[in-house]
Amino acid sequence: MNDTKPKVFSGIQPSGSKTLGNYSGGFRQYAQTQETHEAFFCIVDLHSISVDYDPGELRRATLDLAAMFFATGLDAERATVFCQSHVTAHAEAAWLLSSVTSYGQLSRMTQFKDKSEGRDVVSAALFTYPVLMAGDILLYQTDLVPIGDDQRQHLELSRDIAERFNHRFGETFRVPEGKFPEIGGRIMDLQEPQNKMSTTLSSEQGAVYIVDSPDAIMKKFKSAVTDSEREVRYDPQEKPGVSNLLEIMSVATGEPIEALERRFENAGYGDFKVAVGESVVALLNPIRERYEALRGDERELQRLLAVGAEKARRASAPTLEMMYERMGFARSDAGPFFGAARPKGL
Ligand code: AMP
Ligand code: TRP
Repeated sequence: MNDTKPKVFSGIQPSGSKTLGNYSGGFRQYAQTQETHEAFFCIVDLHSISVDYDPGELRRATLDLAAMFFATGLDAERATVFCQSHVTAHAEAAWLLSSVTSYGQLSRMTQFKDKSEGRDVVSAALFTYPVLMAGDILLYQTDLVPIGDDQRQHLELSRDIAERFNHRFGETFRVPEGKFPEIGGRIMDLQEPQNKMSTTLSSEQGAVYIVDSPDAIMKKFKSAVTDSEREVRYDPQEKPGVSNLLEIMSVATGEPIEALERRFENAGYGDFKVAVGESVVALLNPIRERYEALRGDERELQRLLAVGAEKARRASAPTLEMMYERMGFARSDAGPFFGAARPKGL
């Protein structure tokens, strides 16, 4: 492994079908960074049990997501693609870091407030979820975390946790930076453009799934909500529906939004929506085809995840060991558990 390359880490939950929003804020950025960085991409299955879930579904969704990582361009050789629960360091780090995380700060997380609203039972895992996420990132001495806008607050918390730990126990973690896409960091629901497109909260018509058929995609775009003004102009405040469509087309084609505004200056909304739909079909069709081929071979997916887990274990062990040492746990070179993990010079 090349230690001089900056490190990138991101995680995504194996739950529900992944959307065009996940592609734009997540997968699209991941594939770009594996060229220039030492890249870690994690299927965060431990995060998925923080809300009510079905065990059979978790297993299926984990393999779905592994196939999606590879279908969107990640390469098991160049990047480390792995499953969070396969690397026990993540659960350990979460517990250790929870000692430097304040209850007050966790209660201010907007995602916690949104997700706990209206539920009969709110799990402790939902509350401490951002600590697990901080551990994911910090274990790899991550420089850069590509994420969508909705994870900004969690990343800030991870930075605070790193700084607090470094201050309390001595310099241990690199403090990570977020990387947010300039456009497409927050793709909105096609039916309710004031809300983000979401795996769990959007309606079937409001969310475009990466594996949707071309027909389904065209239908969703043709019925997308716009406004009565009949002018293709980018203005997220006044024109959320149209602005979202412009942003989506810009992500799909790589063309700047201004160029698209000019192209559709004199077009009706009907033609504009068809063009946006077609650009998304062109983007997602090859991904869906690759996905289906990969998803058909579960043994191969399991093998690739095992390769990733081994690399991730080796990469995270020195930092975990350093955490235990700095926090005052009586570690020993002779013990069966830490001998191999103990970093040189500690
Ligand atoms: P999740 O499926 O919630 O684990 O999200 C995985 C990644 O997709 C995270 O980096 C999110 O920020 C990103 N993401 C989720 N929804 C959207 C959206 N509507 N627009 C842009 N990025 C998103
Ligand atoms: N909390 C993130 C989400 O719901 C997923 C996640 C878990 C993550 N661990 C991470 C993202 C580490 C980036 C880095 O989208």
